[in-house]
Amino acid sequence: MNDDVDLAALDFWARPPEDRLAAFARLRALGKPVFFKEQRIPFVRARRGFHALVRHADVVHASRNAKIFSSEPAATSPEPPAWIVLLLGRPMVNMDDPRHARLRRIVARAFTPRRLSQIDEHIAKTAATIVDDVIGGGSGDFVADVAARLPIKVICAMMGVPEHHHVKVAACVDAMTEYSGVRGDVARLRTLRLLAGNLKAIVALHRLVARLGRERRRSPGDDLISALVNADVDGERLSVRELGAFFDLLLVAGNETTRNTIAHGLKLFTDHPDQRALLLADYDRRIAGAIEEIVRYVSPIIQFQRTLTCDYEMNGQSYRKGDKVVLFYLAANRDEEVFADPDTFDITRTPNPHVGFGGPGPHLCLGAHLARRELTAIFRELFTRLPGIRASGEPELLLSNFDNGIKRLPYNT
Ligand code: HEM
Repeated sequence: MNDDVDLAALDFWARPPEDRLAAFARLRALGKPVFFKEQRIPFVRARRGFHALVRHADVVHASRNAKIFSSEPAATSPEPPAWIVLLLGRPMVNMDDPRHARLRRIVARAFTPRRLSQIDEHIAKTAATIVDDVIGGGSGDFVADVAARLPIKVICAMMGVPEHHHVKVAACVDAMTEYSGVRGDVARLRTLRLLAGNLKAIVALHRLVARLGRERRRSPGDDLISALVNADVDGERLSVRELGAFFDLLLVAGNETTRNTIAHGLKLFTDHPDQRALLLADYDRRIAGAIEEIVRYVSPIIQFQRTLTCDYEMNGQSYRKGDKVVLFYLAANRDEEVFADPDTFDITRTPNPHVGFGGPGPHLCLGAHLARRELTAIFRELFTRLPGIRASGEPELLLSNFDNGIKRLPYNT
């Protein structure tokens, strides 16, 4: 590309969000994916680089054609080294069908509309308690006081993790996700420090779930850990490692994403009072569209990657077997060929075929309906009981090319 855009460099991800979006608009205008070289990161698999898919059509095509655009060896980057996979197992997001489909069927039982409506009451109560705690507080950090609290409690309740472990689980998830910022030219020392913290957190979570798994095998309950340890996959039981990999996936996939969406949501409704007024004029009718628009506008997950299983041509561009492509959801969600005025935040946008929950295909977000229910509940509590709540400053953003994360957001009520 004819300017200084390097998606593989951490510097790029430190730029202001508007700069990054402008760079993605220029990449889309080129009409074909650009290849970015990557530097080696110590202790993780070497990578040559990746083709950046930035157009909606390309992201959708790659998501749909999972036999060609494989999620193995990993949909996340950097890819875990073989010894980590051996030690900690492989989450289903990094698997292709048929094994992926079999595992997904087991967890999907916890995400059916019937099961989800059973936990609606728990979600509503938790959201109400969180808002009880901030009423009268006046000001603070919205992420710590509100956004971070709901998703972890909901996932832990679904999994059947007892309340007294929640704080520890939340701390482990935070340590794990800090690693997401590491890619490209980051300093060796930082990588080592983060990798060590990451591993320690994963091992602690695996120990906890293994213990709970043993308990639930003896006396099953009505929770996801019980369902997983007693499920039959390919005629065999899930191993402790597989159970641990599941636990990490659900925690990482369901926690950070929803938390960031809640925080971005408050900022968006602060910056767009007209959209907030529109929402509050008819909350029940407009909240569903508002949530889809927040997810489109924010793209809480910036990207996932795929690996080509054969030589292939897509939209006039040739790819070789083994090539990596990165599906930049945040760029696809601003594609002017699909969305009119893509940079306008419009909660009444219809249709809204965003790919914030992933493109159509086998890996489409399993927790999307759960996330929608959590977002509906927390915004209802916030905006009806604290109508004056707003972000009182700029968010402190996470330096990451994976999570569009907010570390801190000042607010007042
Ligand atoms: C706003 C919130 C969320 C966003 C933006 C989001 C985004 C995504 C995206 C983009 C993918 C696609 C992965 C791929 O194609 O490789 C995905 C997959 C997944 N998500 Fe979510 N997610 C959210 C909430 C949740 C929640 C609450 C849970 C569960 C507690 C969850 C569980 C999963 C799982 C298990 C997968 C892997 C599915 C598979 O590989 O079959 N997500 N999510």
